[in-house]
Amino acid sequence: MLKLCFVCLGNICRSPIGEGVMRHLLKQAGLASAVEVDSAGTAGYHAGELPDARARAAGRRFGVEVSGCARQFKRADFARFDYVLAMDAANFADLAALAADAGARDKLHLLRSFDPESPRGASVPDPYYGEDSDFDEVLRICQTACARLLEKLRRDHEL
Ligand code: 4NP
Repeated sequence: MLKLCFVCLGNICRSPIGEGVMRHLLKQAGLASAVEVDSAGTAGYHAGELPDARARAAGRRFGVEVSGCARQFKRADFARFDYVLAMDAANFADLAALAADAGARDKLHLLRSFDPESPRGASVPDPYYGEDSDFDEVLRICQTACARLLEKLRRDHEL
């Protein structure tokens, strides 16, 4: 089974949204049992919390379940996952610093790097200090990037 982990800073806004969007797409594609999806944060200060209420509400507006319990990404997680999907450049840099070897480093990607229409190095913007419309934008960005990522997974892993 292929294993993906979406990672943002707090694991209460962007990465649970990415996780929910990807799980939704996998279900639609009949691939829910072929790919496992999780999420985590580079920081642990929201560990144990539900996703932010605004993230859950945005998920409902898009027909996507945004759920889970926040946790911090640990070095050992690199061994558990095949793809570690960073939401922004700061998350990417923190994860790269945590990666113990080239094998771990090879698993690390910026989520939007799978969307050929995103500018090089593009981030999923942090909506935490924003408004509902910023959460909707995160949903839209994740829908596009996750759809492209799923196409790549199907090609590369013959799903
Ligand atoms: P996330 O958003 O990284 O998308 O979960 C944030 C959550 C919490 C904070 C910042 C961003 N915070 O500063 O507490």
